[in-house]
Amino acid sequence: MFFSSVLHIALLAAASAAVAVPNPLPSELGPFAKLNAQAKTKAKLEERDDASAKYRFLSDATQQYQVTSLPDVPFTLGEFYSGSMPIKTGDTSRELFFVFQPTIGAPVDEITIWLNGGPGCSSLEGFFQENGLYVWREGDPAPIQNPWSWVNVTNMLWVEQPVGTGYTTGTPTAKTEEEIARDFVGFLGNFMKAFSISNFKIYVTGESYAGRYVPYIASAILDKKDPVNFNLSGAIVYDPCIGQFDYVQQQVPAYPFIKANSNFFKFSTSTMNRLANLHQSCGYQRFLDTYLTFPAKGLQPPVRTQSGCNIFNTAYSAAQSANPCFNVYEINQTCPTPQDVMSDNIFPDGAGGQTNYFDRPDVKAALHAPASSQWTECSNQNVFVGRGGPENEGDLSADSIQYVLPRVIDATKRVLVANGDYDMIIMTQGTLLSIQNMTWGGSLGFSQKPATPINIPAQGNMGIQHYERGLMWGETYESGHMGPQYQPAVAWRHLAWLRGEIESL
Ligand SMILES: *[C@@H]1O[C@H](CO)[C@@H](O)[C@H](O)[C@H]1NC(C)=O
Ligand SMILES: *[C@@H]1O[C@H](CO)[C@@H](O)[C@H](O)[C@H]1NC(C)=O
Ligand SMILES: *[C@@H]1O[C@H](CO)[C@@H](O)[C@H](O)[C@H]1NC(C)=O
Ligand SMILES: *[C@@H]1O[C@H](CO)[C@@H](O)[C@H](O)[C@H]1NC(C)=O
Repeated sequence: MFFSSVLHIALLAAASAAVAVPNPLPSELGPFAKLNAQAKTKAKLEERDDASAKYRFLSDATQQYQVTSLPDVPFTLGEFYSGSMPIKTGDTSRELFFVFQPTIGAPVDEITIWLNGGPGCSSLEGFFQENGLYVWREGDPAPIQNPWSWVNVTNMLWVEQPVGTGYTTGTPTAKTEEEIARDFVGFLGNFMKAFSISNFKIYVTGESYAGRYVPYIASAILDKKDPVNFNLSGAIVYDPCIGQFDYVQQQVPAYPFIKANSNFFKFSTSTMNRLANLHQSCGYQRFLDTYLTFPAKGLQPPVRTQSGCNIFNTAYSAAQSANPCFNVYEINQTCPTPQDVMSDNIFPDGAGGQTNYFDRPDVKAALHAPASSQWTECSNQNVFVGRGGPENEGDLSADSIQYVLPRVIDATKRVLVANGDYDMIIMTQGTLLSIQNMTWGGSLGFSQKPATPINIPAQGNMGIQHYERGLMWGETYESGHMGPQYQPAVAWRHLAWLRGEIESL
């Protein structure tokens, strides 16, 4: 996908462990445990029957999507729906897959959409490991209640898209973001119709390659010119692919990143010297000196990584030799790599083999997912079928900073771009550098260097915020690629800002 030569990493695929880990799942403990479990299930069912009378979105039309329990999730799900929804009304040959969980707090007339990246990675990662009500984190033997669930305050809609991802139905045909955004808006219209939703605010959020999905989809929502039914009200992107990703967000910032985090990389002096020389000779330091300035000096020239200048791959290989469990998505990880229910095959697959959580037949049945689908966290097929494109992903659309991201900022005045400092796949400095090549609100980049701390109760200073002309920037200290997973209390502040509860982070 991203690095045809040396590497093959999806933006947002958690790098999965090659090491087999013994199955830690609790087993049945004999007849008493079973009886107890039955009594509990009965109590739970009764509780649910009472509760469902109050379910806001339950109707004859939505009942087919209702989910009442999930295998190995020992909690009351509450109001919960999932299933396949056509892109074009009545055409079941191309469908996206959604999980919809209305808020457990006071009812709100809004939908917060969450999208993971890849391209081709499932948004169920967000649902089950980042901002859902219950999360099954890497390394945990069972799911836990998420103390920072976004479901606490908003109606969450996680959507697997584009076609070719996760449980979606159909064959990938898209060559551009414009096409997948049109598909998404078709899906969203059908979803809102089925759930009798109108006049809701819509927030679009996501991570990684969704740095392209989110602004393109938000922009397509604006194209509807229907502020009653498609009231786009803001967006958040985490560690997003918004600029000339491979050069500006990976190569240029790589050496300063490694130097600042030398305690994790532990490179020899000779390796550091080799990287320092590349950083100079390939022009990366000059690029930083010229363009990472406040206010921005001018437009950055179009760029491509020259051969011999792939400092990112050189550093990544060295990091893996030094630390076999090095995780490019969270650089402070060491061995052993924790087991991940999303990508490690640790559950019975119903046919005598082993598979991941969402590929289990019982999980698919519970979620109303196509039984024949072969679910993987990131698709094995390409979900974009163009040739090349600015990120070499078969996705030919312009970088988000060129048109769609500025358009969404100008229209909503409420867009947040966040980046975690322990993320090496999209580095904080590179994202900021991309912002300095974006024109919104009538001028280029931020006029001032971000410097205001983000103070989080019980954690202290957890980053840097900066706001200008509708765009909020949030650098997050000690966070890997998946913002809501690695620093959930900070992401909680992001969500509060998005929803207009607070005006600074
Ligand atoms: C979210 O709701 C749960 C359940 O009521 C609660 O335990 C948790 O503290 C809430 N989290 C926040 C950040 O409000
Ligand atoms: C759209 O949402 C905004 C808040 O983001 C609200 O002020 C406005 O009234 C809404 N527009 C419509 C047509 O409901
Ligand atoms: C900077 O923006 C200009 C004009 O919008 C574009 O032509 C150029 O390719 C961009 N450079 C980078 C490095 O993104
Ligand atoms: C990496 O850093 C995060 C944030 O400080 C921390 O929660 C996590 O435990 C660290 N991981 C390791 C393996 O040290």
